[in-house]
Amino acid sequence: MLRIGHRGAAGYAPENTLASIKKAVTLKVDFAELDIQATKDRQLVIFHDRRVDRLTIGKGAVEDMSLTDLRRLTLPGGHVIPTLEEGLKAAEGKVGVMLELKVPGLVEPVLDILKRSGFSSPVIVASFFHEELLRLRRLQPAAQTLALLVASLVQPAAFALDAKATHVGVAFESLSKPYVDALHKAGLTVFAFTVNEPADIQQVVGLGVDGIISDFPDRIPK
Ligand code: G3P
Ligand code: CA
Repeated sequence: MLRIGHRGAAGYAPENTLASIKKAVTLKVDFAELDIQATKDRQLVIFHDRRVDRLTIGKGAVEDMSLTDLRRLTLPGGHVIPTLEEGLKAAEGKVGVMLELKVPGLVEPVLDILKRSGFSSPVIVASFFHEELLRLRRLQPAAQTLALLVASLVQPAAFALDAKATHVGVAFESLSKPYVDALHKAGLTVFAFTVNEPADIQQVVGLGVDGIISDFPDRIPK
């Protein structure tokens, strides 16, 4: 069972911060899941929401702010929004990363930063924007990609096969044993998200998934 720390290890430190990634490293996760967006000046940062309002002292959309402006907007505890480079540096050689592309248009810049940083731990690129995964597949035939889904579809695996993904990440509320079996039959690796309660984790383990994404990755049995 793969243990994936959601937004680093968001149950233990402010989500998507370096502290959260470092906590995921301490917990020896297999992958730290990180949300990726671009600033107005096309710098990649690790941040979940389109707007900064919920998590920082500021207001406005990430895409409308320069990196310099964004870095002034601290989170509670004085944490700053990390760049993708900083996040990779914290994980390098210690844990893999699952980079979720939160908006379209990030495939090339993400690949560029991965290459320039010399990141050598495992990488999975995830997205709800499945065309982005297809684009990545064309650029990097050997990449690990994960198509995200919040639904139980009539054609269970077509969405991921269309995207030429290697993995799927399905909201655990949408998963059933037949659904997991159908995804496996199609050759896909199956992760469930975001599973935090011990009883839910136990239930999802029983469905036969290959990995679990959790704010509390240490609750996931190995
Ligand atoms: O990894 C899947 C999960 O992170 C997707 O949902 O909203 O937490 O980014 P969200
Ligand atoms: Ca995410």
